[in-house]
Amino acid sequence: MKKRMSRMHRRQALRWFAALGAIAIGMGGAGACKKPAAAQRAGTAVDPWLVGMSQCNLGEPWRVQMNEDIEQAAAKHPNLRVVFKDAQNDSLVQRAQVEELVAQKVDVLLISPKEAAPLTKPVAKAYRRGIPVVVLDRAVQGDAYTTFIGADNRKIGHAAGEWVRRTLGAKGRIVELKGLMTSTPGRDRHAGFRAGLALAQHPDLKVVFEADMQWLEPNARKEMESALATQKEIDLVYAHNDPGAHGAYLAAKQAGREKQMKFVGIDALPHEGVRYVQQGLLDATFAYPTGGEQAIDAALKILAGKPVPKKIVLGTRLFTRDNVARGGEEVQ
Ligand code: FRU
Repeated sequence: MKKRMSRMHRRQALRWFAALGAIAIGMGGAGACKKPAAAQRAGTAVDPWLVGMSQCNLGEPWRVQMNEDIEQAAAKHPNLRVVFKDAQNDSLVQRAQVEELVAQKVDVLLISPKEAAPLTKPVAKAYRRGIPVVVLDRAVQGDAYTTFIGADNRKIGHAAGEWVRRTLGAKGRIVELKGLMTSTPGRDRHAGFRAGLALAQHPDLKVVFEADMQWLEPNARKEMESALATQKEIDLVYAHNDPGAHGAYLAAKQAGREKQMKFVGIDALPHEGVRYVQQGLLDATFAYPTGGEQAIDAALKILAGKPVPKKIVLGTRLFTRDNVARGGEEVQ
C-alpha cells in the first residue's frame, strides 16, 4: 500500500511551492503558483484539507447565501473542512480573524473583505507565507493573492445606468444610494452607473441626491427620508444593493410617494430582490452571484496543484417586471 503523505508534510510542500510562486510574482513572474505533485494527493476523510473563510459580515441575506453556497459546495468533498469567521462588519475584527486563520494553519484562505485598504496587508501576509488566498466579491489592493472571484461591478453599474436612461426616456430626477465607497463594488457600481447614464449627453437627466448608505437597509431608509424631504420630484432610485432599494421603497411608502417613482437594486437573490420585483416593490434588479461554489472549485484546483486564473469573472442577469416570470435575461 502506498504511504500517504501526512497533512503536515502536504502542507509544507504546498506552502513551499506557493511561496515560490509568490516570489515569482514579486519578480514579475506569471502569477500561478506551481504546486508539488505530492500535494495532488489531497486530503482524505480522515485527514481533510482545512479551508478558512473570512466573511465580512452576516447581517445581510446575500452574505448568508455566500456562506451557504460555500458550505454546500464543500459538503460534496469529504476531503475538505471549512471553518467560518464572521467579522461583523468591522475591518479591524476581520484583520484579526485573518491572522487567526493563518495561525490555525489553514491550507487555503477564502476571504470576502469588508474594505480594500485595511484588508490588503493581512491578505498579502498570508499569501507571502505560502497560504493560497481566494478573494471573493470585494477586492483588495495590489495582487498579493492567488485568485479573485466575482462579478464585474462596473459592468453591472453600466447596465443599470443604461436601463435607467432608457426607462426614463433620458429625462428624470434620480436618487443614487451608494454602497460603502471604501469597498470596490461601491466605487465600481457608482462609476459604471454614471458612465451608463451619460449625463453630459442627456441634460434632462439629473442625479438630484446621492448618499453613501454603506450597503445597509436602515441607512438607506434614513438617507431616502432626507431625499424625500428635500426633493419634491423624484422619478427613480438606484441603490447599489437590494436591501438599499428596499429601504428606499419603505421610506417612500411611508411618505405616500412610492407610486411616483421607480426603484432599482442589485443582488437579485430569489428570496429577496427577485421576490421584490415579483411583488412590484422594485422595478429592476441585477444578479450578483456569490461565487461560493466557484471558490470551492478554485480551492480544490489549487490543492491539487492545478493552475487557476488570477481573475474569475461571474456573469449577471437583469430581472424586471416584464421578464421576471421568465427568469430574467442575461446581460451581455
Ligand atoms: C452584502 C452586500 C451585497 C452587495 C455586496 C457588495 O454585504 O452589500 O448586498 O451586493 O455586499 O460587496
